[in-house]
Amino acid sequence: MARIVALTGATGFIGSVLRQRLLHLGVHVRALSRHSGGSEDATEWVHGGLGDIDALDELVAGADAVIHCAGAVRGASSDEFNQINTEGSVRLIESARNAGTCERFLLMSTLAARYPGLSWYASSKYAAEQQVRSAARDVAVTIFRPTAVYGPGDREMRPLFEWLLRGWLFTLGESESRLSFIHVEDLANAVLKWLVAPEAPSGTYELNDCQQGGYDWSSIAAIAAEIRNGPVHQLSIPTPLLRGLAWFNLYFSRLFHRAPMLTPAKVRELTHSDWSCSNGPIQKALGWEPQILLSRALQERWF
Ligand SMILES: NC(=O)c1ccc[n+]([C@@H]2O[C@H](COP(=O)([O-])OP(=O)(O)OC[C@H]3O[C@@H](n4cnc5c(N)ncnc54)[C@H](OP(=O)(O)O)[C@@H]3O)[C@@H](O)[C@H]2O)c1
Repeated sequence: MARIVALTGATGFIGSVLRQRLLHLGVHVRALSRHSGGSEDATEWVHGGLGDIDALDELVAGADAVIHCAGAVRGASSDEFNQINTEGSVRLIESARNAGTCERFLLMSTLAARYPGLSWYASSKYAAEQQVRSAARDVAVTIFRPTAVYGPGDREMRPLFEWLLRGWLFTLGESESRLSFIHVEDLANAVLKWLVAPEAPSGTYELNDCQQGGYDWSSIAAIAAEIRNGPVHQLSIPTPLLRGLAWFNLYFSRLFHRAPMLTPAKVRELTHSDWSCSNGPIQKALGWEPQILLSRALQERWF
């Protein structure tokens, strides 16, 4: 077991769950935060961001393992994504490498990195994967590419699941598009398996909830219909309308200096036709298997 684990993104949705799970395991968690103040638990907080080399050096000093979960998931330009997701990741691996104690480094990438041309986000995460690997030298780098992550604490998918269980499914893109999901607790289990593995595997691994071939919109509607014992109406949002809203949102976000989630680039991601993936390689490397299918999470309102 690692003695000190350095964690980034610990204030975010996935990172908060990881931090709790690591503390529960008895790990010494040292976490990066841009906010002042900390938490009333055993976390050792380091104040700073991914642009602050001193903070990164302090974060990784003496750490055996680094879990890099910080990232920009919204932004108004490719530069905003690149500065945080690519350049920030490279700065962190360089600090970890220079510290001399870090044996393993986990980069939380995304399934979107499969298609770097799709969006600013996808391209910045793909570049991070490449550049972290080439800067790592003798630090073992593992890359996780989870699909859409949901669970308690998530604010993006929760409203959609709530509408779904009220009988309304908002669909995007083609009716036969393949989607996939993973519950945040299953993702955290995979990270813990990685941490305690005798050797960190050096691959790039996709992770989903094990639904073979993913879901199409109709299968999601059918799951919800069974749970609520009533009809689920599919409401298709036309892509040109979505694109128009995205341009409008991007324009106003730039005007008011805000980081938007819905942009034309994001629309390309959202309407992509195939987000199915396979857990085969990570199951083989770490013996990890997800436990929570979407149907169970919806049934138990575990999101
Ligand atoms: N959620 C998903 O469906 C999903 C799917 C695949 C991959 N991922 C990846 O998983 C990671 C975490 O995602 P999430 O959903 O948990 O996002 P989130 O809730 O938005 O959290 C992002 C975290 O990154 C931190 N962060 C952002 N910019 C930073 C900077 N410049 N310096 C230091 N910290 C910074 C945030 O800190 P502040 O609190 O200071 O803002 C926050 O802790 C991301 O790398 C994302 O690409 C997410």
